[in-house]
Amino acid sequence: MFKENTAALVTGSAIRLGKHIALNLARAGYDIALHYHRSADAALETQAEIQALGVKCELFSYDLMDVAGADAFMAKVKDHFPRLHVLVNSASGYTPAPIAETTPEIFDTQFALNIRAPFFLTKAFAARIGSGNVVNIIDNKLAYHQYAYAAYLLAKKSLADFTRMAALEFAPHIRVNAVAPGVVLPASVRSEDYVQWRIQGIPLKKQGNPDHIGQAVLSFLQNDFLTGQILVVDGGENISNVGQHSENWKQG
Ligand SMILES: NC(=O)c1ccc[n+]([C@@H]2O[C@H](COP(=O)([O-])OP(=O)(O)OC[C@H]3O[C@@H](n4cnc5c(N)ncnc54)[C@H](OP(=O)(O)O)[C@@H]3O)[C@@H](O)[C@H]2O)c1
Repeated sequence: MFKENTAALVTGSAIRLGKHIALNLARAGYDIALHYHRSADAALETQAEIQALGVKCELFSYDLMDVAGADAFMAKVKDHFPRLHVLVNSASGYTPAPIAETTPEIFDTQFALNIRAPFFLTKAFAARIGSGNVVNIIDNKLAYHQYAYAAYLLAKKSLADFTRMAALEFAPHIRVNAVAPGVVLPASVRSEDYVQWRIQGIPLKKQGNPDHIGQAVLSFLQNDFLTGQILVVDGGENISNVGQHSENWKQG
């Protein structure tokens, strides 16, 4: 179905969701440019898992706070993978804080990782690669105004608008879409009770798994009449009235 040796760059793919997105792409026949920053050991393990699927996988370390290096980073990936065709912006920063507790440092870091980095990587992809697909990983909290994650959520909302804006600017050669996951791999600070409470607010009454997100990414690559779209993969949580709001969570 896919051309042999077409490659995908997935940011933050040593661990967690990014890793599963990369594994799904590898199973579909893509070579993988595995980007990581701090998770060097995990990157090696994930590389071995991907290579065992019979595709190429190379590691690229890069601090996404250093946005000035985005173009050189993309050029390096292209040197290794001349048939780079896909960029998945999955890496993120997640520091929950309501507006009242958001420091300038929290604000700047959340915007740097969740909108500035995908913005400049997409720009570099357009300049260096010129055709293909960008898929941004957002968050189903787009549907709400959950101030408990003020800077994070504002940056992700901005990434949603950026997805539509970039889709227009880079059409017809590059399609830009986004996947907005719901409860899939909760942050380590979240208890099992919290997850069960969130599930009560999900119409399909279950937690998602990482392959649901990987499959959603692939569905954008397979359908060449889609651009500027956001696929919310959350068991319908976003269409409920309020969503479960962590501000309302009372343990015990
Ligand atoms: N997990 C969920 O259920 C869920 C729900 C909604 C939305 N999402 C979205 O899905 C995406 C993946 O989520 P996740 O929970 O798996 O990941 P995550 O824990 O939010 O993100 C961590 C990833 O980002 C990378 N990263 C962080 N700071 C970096 C930096 N300065 N430079 C380069 N890379 C950096 C990390 O790389 P290293 O570890 O190598 O440093 C790691 O791979 C994110 O965009 C997230 O917002 C996830």
